[in-house]
This record gives sequence, C-alpha cells and structure tokens, in this order.
Amino acid sequence: MAFLLLSSVLLVLVFLTAEVTLCTGSTECVARNFGHDSVVCECNSTYCDSVGSVSLPPLGQYSSYLSSMAGSRLKGAQAQVQVKSTGAGIRLTIVPYQKYQKIRGFGGAMTDAAAINILSLSAGAQDQLLRQYFSPDGIGYSVVRVPMASCDFSTRLYTYDDTPGDYNLDNFTLAPEDINMKIPLLQRAQALSPRPLSLLASAWSAPAWMKTNGALVGKGSLKGQPGGKEYKTWAQYYIRFLEEYAKYNLTFWALTTGNEPSAGRMTNYSFQALGFTPEEQRDWVALDLGPALHASSHPHTHILILDDNRLLLPHWAKVVLNDVHAGRYIHGVAVHWYMDFLVPAEISLGVTHHLYPEYYLFGTEACSGWNPLDRGVKLGSWDRAEQYAHDIIVDLNHYVVGWTDWNLALDQTGGPNWVKNFVDSPVIVDAQRDVFYKQPSFYSMAHFSKFLWEGSQRVGVSASQKTDLEYSAFIRPDGSVVLIILNRSSSEVQFEVWDPAVGYIPSTAPAHSLLTLAWNTH
Ligand SMILES: *[C@@H]1O[C@H](CO)[C@@H](O)[C@H](O)[C@H]1NC(C)=O
Ligand SMILES: *[C@@H]1O[C@H](CO)[C@@H](O)[C@H](O)[C@H]1NC(C)=O
Ligand SMILES: *[C@@H]1O[C@H](CO)[C@@H](O)[C@H](O)[C@H]1NC(C)=O
Ligand SMILES: *[C@@H]1O[C@H](CO)[C@@H](O)[C@H](O)[C@H]1NC(C)=O
Ligand SMILES: *[C@@H]1O[C@H](CO)[C@@H](O)[C@H](O)[C@H]1NC(C)=O
Repeated sequence: MAFLLLSSVLLVLVFLTAEVTLCTGSTECVARNFGHDSVVCECNSTYCDSVGSVSLPPLGQYSSYLSSMAGSRLKGAQAQVQVKSTGAGIRLTIVPYQKYQKIRGFGGAMTDAAAINILSLSAGAQDQLLRQYFSPDGIGYSVVRVPMASCDFSTRLYTYDDTPGDYNLDNFTLAPEDINMKIPLLQRAQALSPRPLSLLASAWSAPAWMKTNGALVGKGSLKGQPGGKEYKTWAQYYIRFLEEYAKYNLTFWALTTGNEPSAGRMTNYSFQALGFTPEEQRDWVALDLGPALHASSHPHTHILILDDNRLLLPHWAKVVLNDVHAGRYIHGVAVHWYMDFLVPAEISLGVTHHLYPEYYLFGTEACSGWNPLDRGVKLGSWDRAEQYAHDIIVDLNHYVVGWTDWNLALDQTGGPNWVKNFVDSPVIVDAQRDVFYKQPSFYSMAHFSKFLWEGSQRVGVSASQKTDLEYSAFIRPDGSVVLIILNRSSSEVQFEVWDPAVGYIPSTAPAHSLLTLAWNTH
C-alpha cells in the first residue's frame, strides 16, 4: 500500500495561514491519504491539528466550521449576518419557540482495547490524544462509557469475581486492566476536562457461575428468577463496581442494565453476553437492581435500560416502563446504532419518546466497520464520517440527548479484540511510528460534541422546500444558536439560514460536507 504524504502542499498551507493560526489557536491537519475517499490527520508527540477553544463573534456576525470529503477539517470562518435575503434556493428558518430535548453530551468508550492502544504511544503522544478528546482545545467529549470487566475488545476473558459460588462477592476485585490502564487514563481525561465527565458503566457478562450456561460467552442468562440469589448478587456486583471506582475518585453518572441483552439469547453467541428478556430486565430492576442502588452509597446513579439496538423499541420500553415498580428506578433508554437502517427512527425512538416523555433516550454505542461486508479499519473514509453524522442528526431529531461512540482508539487492524471482531474507530494508533490518525469520523463527532454543550436545547427548523440536506438546530445555555448541516446529496441546491432574531446567513455546503454554523443572538 502506498502511503502518500501530502505534507508538502500542507506545509505551504500552514505557512500561509500562520497568522490566522496564531490568532485563533488553531493548527492545520497534517493530511495523509491511504487510498480511500478522503484523508486522515496525522498527530504525534509534538504536533496535532486543533481548532483551539472556540468563542463566537459578536452579535451581527456568525462562525462557520466546515469539514468535507475534499479535505477541510473543521475549517473556521467568520462573516456578517445579512439584513436581506438573497432570495435564492432553500431557506432554513430557525423556530426558537419550538423546543425539544436538552443535550447531555457526546463521547466514546474506554474499553481495554482503547486503553491498550492509547498506552502503546509515548507519554507525549498519549497526552496529545487525550487532549484531542477531553481538553478545552479538544472536541468536548464529556461522556465516557466504561465496560465492567471484559468484552470482545479485551485480550482475555474475565469478570471481577470468577470464584465459583462467591455470592457475598468476597473475592470481588477490579482487574489489572482497570487498575493499570483504564483508571489512570480516566483520571487523566478528567484532569484535562473543564467539567466533570459523565461516566457510564455497562457489563457484558456476569461471572460464569451465576449463569445458566456456565460460561461468559454463548447463549445464557442468570440462573433462577428475579428476586433470587443470582439476580440479587448480580445487582450487588454493580454496586461493588461503583464503590471500587469511587476509591479512585471516579464516580458514575449512569449505568446500563447490561450490554445488548438480546445477544445473550442467541445460540452460540461468540463473545461475552448476558441474556435478558424485557420481562426479566423489568423484574430485575424492580426487585433487585433498583432497591440495591437506592440503598447504596451511590443512590443518584441513573439507570438506563435496553443498551441494545433500537429495533427492539418500542416493545422493550413498553414492557419495562409500563411497570411502575421498575419505572420509578429508571431514568432513560439506551440505544445502539447497529441495523438502524432496518427501523425508521420515528417508529422506534419517536414512538418511545411520545409514550414515555419523562424518560430520556441516549445513544450508548456506535462504530463503523462492523458489517462483514465492510469490515475493519478504513483510513480516511469520508463515507463513514457521513454515516456517523447522518445517524447523529437523525437521533437528535428524534429526542436523543447524547451519542456515544465505541472504542476511543484502536490499532490499524481495528483491535485488539479476542474474537477478531475488528471494527473502525475515530482514532487509529500506529504504535511503531508513535503516531495516531484522526479519521474523518473524528471530525464528524466534533461538529456536534465541540459545539453542543450540556443543556443545549434542540429547537425547530423549517425548510422553505423539500431538500436532501440534513440538519438539526440548538440554542445553547449561553443563548447562542448552533445549526449543524450535512450534505450527502449530489443534487444542486443553495441555501440560506434565517434566524428572525439576527437576520440572514447565506451559505453553501460543498459536496459531501458537514457544516456547523453558530451565532450569538444577544
Ligand atoms: C510531529 O509532526 C510534525 C508535523 O508533521 C513534525 O514537524 C514533527 O517533526 C513531528 N515530531 C516528531 C517527534 O516526529
Ligand atoms: C477468595 O477470598 C478468600 C478470603 O479473602 C481467600 O482466602 C481465597 O483465596 C480467595 N479465592 C480466590 C479464588 O481468589
Ligand atoms: C475528584 O474529582 C473531582 C472532579 O470530578 C475533583 O474536583 C477533585 O479535586 C478530585 N479529588 C481528588 C482527591 O482527586
Ligand atoms: C453451536 O455450537 C455447537 C458446538 O460447536 C454446534 O454443534 C452447534 O451446531 C452450534 N449451533 C448452532 C445453531 O450454530
Ligand atoms: C451538496 O453537494 C452537492 C454535490 O454533492 C452540491 O451540488 C450541492 O450544491 C451541495 N448543497 C448545498 C446546499 O450546497
């Protein structure tokens, strides 16, 4: 494979934009082309492109940030809001009195694989990588999902208590993966972050001795019935996990009732899973997990149900949330993005929201490269960046309050993964060269995560005519408006934005591009 270095062109660009760079704190992407439809940005221990910390221009001007297949990466510009319409093309009108859900945050997962990859870099490059996600100069990640013990993105099979029959959890102990890798990295991420991280815990499998199949993998569920000793012990296992992490000053915002409960109901499922029917999950929360958490030293930890694909909605939510005994302990419904194309968002997310508006919807897992027909890492794939942006916009437009990517970093084969379930990640590490590549999907995340702070509220947008553009608009807690626009289409359209509070913003979204527009309203 030929690795084409475009740096000569870029060095000129860096040189030309040096003045701008100094003013805004932004630095240019060192682009590398690996033969796919776009480029990655290469970072090392001393250099990584960054848009810097973003502040909006005064009233009467707007900021725009553009990423595109052609190679722009969060390219910033500012211009005047216009008093008059150009009258050309589509008009997107901001409708601030149509108010929807408030954003919680965006992030990724600190799997064993992610930790192994980050720590495979030199200390300087590790620091650059963590800064890219979590520091004020980075892309504003505030959510980190933390697998409880092993999953497929581990190098071995383990739980925190593999001592058969240990119902008191006397032998419960965090793994070396937690103590030596994930916890120190989470502490570093927290130290870089301007606000407390929202940590989210999910377990893949219970210890084998609690399960019907006596193994971490394959088809199996907890022995006995909700209210019985295995179900009670499994709830206590969650509490112990929260207590052990708290000793390291890492407290969890939320936990899920378990990763992909439907996987554990499939014959010969190839990696760690724990099967639940929605009825079993409902009764476990009502009888065991809810009361145990309530009585624990972490009673304010949110409980999110499902943690599985949205095609299980709204049925799953109906079974669990219609029950007041379970429902009173639950805060939200967690969804994964796999096979989203099979089920329209309206009949899964939309219906669930309208039936249970007091429970929020939250995206807890997504990655590209999982499909056997399009497997593993694809360095520089803009197509995959569009898949992310499309899914995020659809989710946001259907009441989802946050979106969590999967592994924060993977190696060039998309692992390590003990069952070779290799996938892609927004950050791909090359430990040998001590560099990491920021994929187009990294910038896809950034177009949302850097701009949509916690508490940003989605508002209405009305289009003057039918369009292939995809968009979502928000008012942030500081009163500014953020509009994100994705152009995946090949049809010719121009557009302008009208915010009655400030005026007209004439704009173009180049072919295959993602645009964030932001402006102050007072
Ligand atoms: C890091 O990358 C920058 C920009 O490409 C380059 O100038 C610098 O020499 C690299 N540093 C190391 C340690 O390789
Ligand atoms: C479990 O804990 C007990 C008491 O602390 C200890 O004696 C025993 O060796 C442990 N067993 C295992 C398998 O770690
Ligand atoms: C614990 O973390 C919080 C932020 O989440 C921080 O403010 C505090 O200083 C930390 N305490 C210790 C002892 O590290
Ligand atoms: C499951 O695995 C067993 C043992 O390898 C095999 O005999 C059986 O056919 C498999 N079942 C299915 C449904 O694949
Ligand atoms: C979207 O991209 C297409 C090309 O793929 C381009 O023709 C069109 O003008 C773009 N749309 C907007 C609104 O700029």
